[in-house]
Amino acid sequence: VPIEPELSSCGESTVDTGKTCMNVPCCPPELKDSKIIDFEPPLGCKIRYRPAAHLVDRDYLYKFELAMERMKALPVDDPRNFMQQANIHCAYCNGAYSQVGFPDQKLEVHYSWLFFPFHRMYLYFFERILGKLIGDPDFAMPFWNWDSPCGMTMPQIYLDPYSPLYDENRNLEHQHVLVNLNDGKSVIKQEKNEEDGFDKLTKREQEREQIKSNLYVMYQQMVRSAKTASCFHGAAYLGGCVSETDIGCTPEPRGGTIENGAHIAVHKFVGAKNPPYNEDMGNFYSAGRDPLFYAHHGNVDRMWNIWKTLQGKKRRDFDQDVWLNSSFLFYDENANMVRVKVRDCLDSKTLGYDYQSVDIPWLRSKP
Ligand code: C2O
Repeated sequence: VPIEPELSSCGESTVDTGKTCMNVPCCPPELKDSKIIDFEPPLGCKIRYRPAAHLVDRDYLYKFELAMERMKALPVDDPRNFMQQANIHCAYCNGAYSQVGFPDQKLEVHYSWLFFPFHRMYLYFFERILGKLIGDPDFAMPFWNWDSPCGMTMPQIYLDPYSPLYDENRNLEHQHVLVNLNDGKSVIKQEKNEEDGFDKLTKREQEREQIKSNLYVMYQQMVRSAKTASCFHGAAYLGGCVSETDIGCTPEPRGGTIENGAHIAVHKFVGAKNPPYNEDMGNFYSAGRDPLFYAHHGNVDRMWNIWKTLQGKKRRDFDQDVWLNSSFLFYDENANMVRVKVRDCLDSKTLGYDYQSVDIPWLRSKP
């Protein structure tokens, strides 16, 4: 059966690193009138384009920061408040919910075919809330263009300590270095001696190598190893399975190429080095507390759109009802609880948004 979260089951989330473990409360504020609305795609034909974060101008930045500031300033029990938004990720990713009809089965949105749909709708409502807070329903949030050389460092707009886009729980050593999409560890040594021309050259060369390697990783995860829906999206995940050996029955069936690869690498790259939990981006329970999370996942979401255009559009999503009818619950921009099905989110244009078109250099990086 399709997976559905049991709202009333929401309890503490478990954060387990294998070595140490803790419980955190992440449940959403209670429903005021116990009404859950079924999601309807927005009417209208205007598409809002999410810009690459390294390309936005000052007017855009002003609006974005204002929206984020207001989101952080909402009452703490308002479901649209920034921490409440961050907790959505914690609840869906660390086992706060059980599945409808199966009180003993935890719900987890990673490592399976739920990954892209869940995060798409999570970002969708986050963006709608931002727009609402500045009275601009056409507002589109930025994406972190880490698959392109000019976007391979943390976007500058997130690095100003006085900005609401900043988060102090990050790896500061990684602030101005190229991401390593392979495993999130930077291979580039910070330059020590400014005078030393030889070192500079070496750094340049290292950077060139890093870019090459990243583009290769992208080609690998988007083109070569992602020929089927199952490879790209991840394995099936069905509600209520009891046998761990059946397909889709484990809580973590298998993630897709991008999820397991570049996606995780960027999380690790941004998260602080502090053990045991590497907050914020380095752990699912806290990742949503970093505003950069939403730009990171914008790019992950963009990959879904791009994937469908590859190979003459022959790459198709799953068509099984059990996937299409799986659902999630979110508070929308008006603080109403909405049930969204996977089938509602297959096409970002139907949801009213798309991505600024930028060069896709890895398409030419066939090794
Ligand atoms: Cu829900 Cu990037 O993780």
